[in-house]
Amino acid sequence: MRSGVVVAKLASRNPHKLEELRALLPGWELELLEADELPPEEGRTYFENAHAKALFGRRTGVPDAWLLGEDSGLEVEALGGAPGIRSARFAAPGEDPVAKLLAALGPVEGQARRARYVCELVCLSPGGGELRGTGTLGGRIAEEPRGSGGFGYDPVFVPDGEKLTVAELGGEWKRASSHRARAARALLDAM
Ligand code: IMP
Repeated sequence: MRSGVVVAKLASRNPHKLEELRALLPGWELELLEADELPPEEGRTYFENAHAKALFGRRTGVPDAWLLGEDSGLEVEALGGAPGIRSARFAAPGEDPVAKLLAALGPVEGQARRARYVCELVCLSPGGGELRGTGTLGGRIAEEPRGSGGFGYDPVFVPDGEKLTVAELGGEWKRASSHRARAARALLDAM
């Protein structure tokens, strides 16, 4: 850490996550890790995947930077918690994940449409320390996609206490209240 600035690499390919995390971690100089490939997501938990990404980053040789690994997903009650840690691979390449989710869910109502987002952050310090932050966001899956903000399943995720989807609520709402915002606050608390 140089004069309060945390120089960190995010072991991810997702520019939306980079943008969200940059806003959530003030005082951090966060960049995407430059690597041809990231490790396959073979863990049994979000933590294992986030940890594997951060560790991979550490091994690619950026000794002075903090390494941030992130893994997140959507768990839907009627699908027994799927797609969960497989959220990024739920749809085949070229397939629309939101359309696939709505088709898998069908016309179920009430409790069956309940869902939650989960985000796990693992941060490795240059000195070998390890910190973790977890965040969840409860809600329900809308009957049809609405809104253009966010990414992934945001057009069909309606957070508890809201009528709009995350894609309609927009970036400011996400920065204050998303699963990623909650995980980032937990990580900062741990620091
Ligand atoms: P991974 O963490 O790279 O495995 O990808 C997580 C996947 O979960 C994303 O590709 C999205 O499908 C979903 N996901 C995670 N966080 C969000 C979010 O904030 N909005 C919408 N979808 C998300």
